[in-house]
Amino acid sequence: MSNPLEDVKARLAMASGASRRDLLIQLNELIVSVETTEETVKRIGLYPLQTSVAKIGQDLGIFELLTNCGPQSLEQLQTSTKAHPRTLGRLLRYMASLGLIGEAGINLFEANETCRKFATPEGVITLTHFWDNGMALWQTMPEFLRKHNYQDVTNGRATVFQSAFKTDEDLYEWFHQNPVNQASIFEFMELQKATRGVWFDKYPIQGETRSWDPNMPVWVDMGGNVGHYCALFKEKFPEVPGRVILQDIPLTIEKALRTPGVENMSHDFFEEQPIKGSKYYHLGWVLHNWNDEKSAQILRQIKLAMTAESVLLINDVVVPYSKVPAWAASLDIMMMAVCGAQERTMKEWADLLGGAGLSVKECTVYDTEQCHGIISATL
Ligand SMILES: C[S@@+](CC[C@H](N)C(=O)[O-])C[C@H]1O[C@@H](n2cnc3c(N)ncnc32)[C@H](O)[C@@H]1O
Repeated sequence: MSNPLEDVKARLAMASGASRRDLLIQLNELIVSVETTEETVKRIGLYPLQTSVAKIGQDLGIFELLTNCGPQSLEQLQTSTKAHPRTLGRLLRYMASLGLIGEAGINLFEANETCRKFATPEGVITLTHFWDNGMALWQTMPEFLRKHNYQDVTNGRATVFQSAFKTDEDLYEWFHQNPVNQASIFEFMELQKATRGVWFDKYPIQGETRSWDPNMPVWVDMGGNVGHYCALFKEKFPEVPGRVILQDIPLTIEKALRTPGVENMSHDFFEEQPIKGSKYYHLGWVLHNWNDEKSAQILRQIKLAMTAESVLLINDVVVPYSKVPAWAASLDIMMMAVCGAQERTMKEWADLLGGAGLSVKECTVYDTEQCHGIISATL
């Protein structure tokens, strides 16, 4: 008789996109259906403690040690980490009970799949960012929303973020005063390039720029952070003629990559765009940081710099009208919490762009699980 769990595993391994997501939801429903109420509520209620020990596991290098050095006794781990054996033993016991690490015997621990995932650079960068820049928000958000009677949150200077981090500054001003948090988000954004950069392979950049004037700007990345997407543009399209320009606020430009062929320029996107007539103006994960009014101001400045040949490319989340995957729904809550902003459906994008006098040419959702889309708009 075949093992039903192996069957499910095999089906999941073959599934992709929405059908994979449906299977994962069904699996989760299966777990809940066999748990008692107490088990389900305790499990979800203690997620913050789980995140906390996962962070401690990473800080102590437990996941790397088990992944790279094979099974380790409590004594060996104590020698490597210098933690007190009693504290360490209690933490390891809890990690093992959660399945974060495996247990091979009494006080003997080993890597399992979860442990190996947390030991990867991706695991370290993602958890570090969520911990450094997220945890305080999630703890503050219920009280913040209660105090504000659960009204629409649209003021980026008075949202959960300011309450949680006890500041009057907006997110990006604050990051510059808090380099540890800034480094966490910069590394996380660079990591996202692997998934968010794939649209370059689907959009006809080469076809659209074949006869572009090499003296004209071809790619202006506004709010381009330290320049990951300018570097990717140069890497993917070294032969595309024209200037490639990275724009961001001065404190970010100071830390920008020095990519050959990329001009780094300080520019506030609420001000007049000095680079006129570029083939592309790119806004990646920018407008989801701003409410509709502020986003319209940014778009109007771009519109004034565009010519009939220019294309505005927006690389941002396109929220489906139903069954929104958890990652996109969580990003939307994060944008509310940190910027008083939001992720948008296609209708909301069309209304925003139309309101700024731009016409949507095309929208491709190139990653349906993370809802990453590329929207092109022209005059
Ligand atoms: C979420 S990051 C997006 C970075 C990058 N475009 C990407 O897709 O990963 C938003 C960027 O907007 C920049 N920014 C914020 N306010 C700005 C302003 N007024 N003018 C220009 N850039 C700004 C921030 O410094 C940050 O690098």
